[in-house]
Amino acid sequence: MSTPLEPTVSVLLDSDWASGSLVEDVRRGLGSRPLTLPPKWLYDDEGSRLFDEITRLPEYYPTETERAILARHAADVVAASDATTLVELGSGTSDKTRMLLDAFTAAGRLERFVPVDVAEQTLRDAADLLSRTYPGLAVEALVGDFTLHLAHLPARTASGSRMVAFLGSTIGNLYLEERRAFLGALADSLEPGDWLLLGTDLVKPVDRLVEAYHDAAGVTEAFVRNSLRVLNRELGADFDPGAFSYVPFWDGQMERMDLRLRAEAPQTVRVPGADLVLELGQGEEIRVEISTKFRPGLVAEELAEAGFEVERVWDDGDGVATGDFALTLARRR
Ligand code: AVJ
Repeated sequence: MSTPLEPTVSVLLDSDWASGSLVEDVRRGLGSRPLTLPPKWLYDDEGSRLFDEITRLPEYYPTETERAILARHAADVVAASDATTLVELGSGTSDKTRMLLDAFTAAGRLERFVPVDVAEQTLRDAADLLSRTYPGLAVEALVGDFTLHLAHLPARTASGSRMVAFLGSTIGNLYLEERRAFLGALADSLEPGDWLLLGTDLVKPVDRLVEAYHDAAGVTEAFVRNSLRVLNRELGADFDPGAFSYVPFWDGQMERMDLRLRAEAPQTVRVPGADLVLELGQGEEIRVEISTKFRPGLVAEELAEAGFEVERVWDDGDGVATGDFALTLARRR
């Protein structure tokens, strides 16, 4: 048995978030109405921990459904592609990805795994664990923001193509224009013949969607509220998280969950790190996250527009009706 290779961790993100894009994002999002916060700032280490807890909630079906699709089809994914490098965007703990890593390893094909995430400690822990689990695999982690740092993905090797996995329907957290920009930038950073494996949550009955984002144990609420704690810590803001209520709802027009925090009383919030003073009226809301749900045709359309061609789609449906979640393998044209 070979000894594990030492993982490498390259930091592309300022370790001091406040000096990076957080300030700009907060100025843009809280500097004008409607008030918004970009969801990537939900994933500090505490947010990553809470999200991990969400994935184990009985109401939150996407993670388990995607896991089941991967369990069933990981070998098909590997067989349908010729990749020797696997990149994972927004990798978190890379837990589900092990099924892909196992399938690639079984096929004797994987040389390199490149997990990319903003949560540095989560990523370091994952990188350590993965290089011990997969001896001989080069784990080259990138602490970075997949909306900013795609140009830093490692180049293709002589031996084979790259596959970029973007799982969990994280793409649903981006707005339409952001999705377009993201897929375009991803296509630019790849070469013809490279692969994208994209997880997308699908449109389904409203009650199941609302439950998935309004769980009985209140974990999702704590996760969304943690965004205010991030601003307090990183930007010296004085949000009182308890002064807000959690308002998740289904936006049927945009076909997305919309997760908001509502000020229960009028209040003044100072955000010195972003040079902002926020006057919130009673009932005023801050949108913290959207989670878009897709129809299968839309996924293919958005991919085609960005320069990807759909190779295969796997879902948890019975072949007649579509399932809850889809996994799409697309090839860069
Ligand atoms: C980041 C896409 C996996 O939108 O379902 C879960 C984040 N937010 N519960 C989603 C999330 C609240 C999640 N993903």
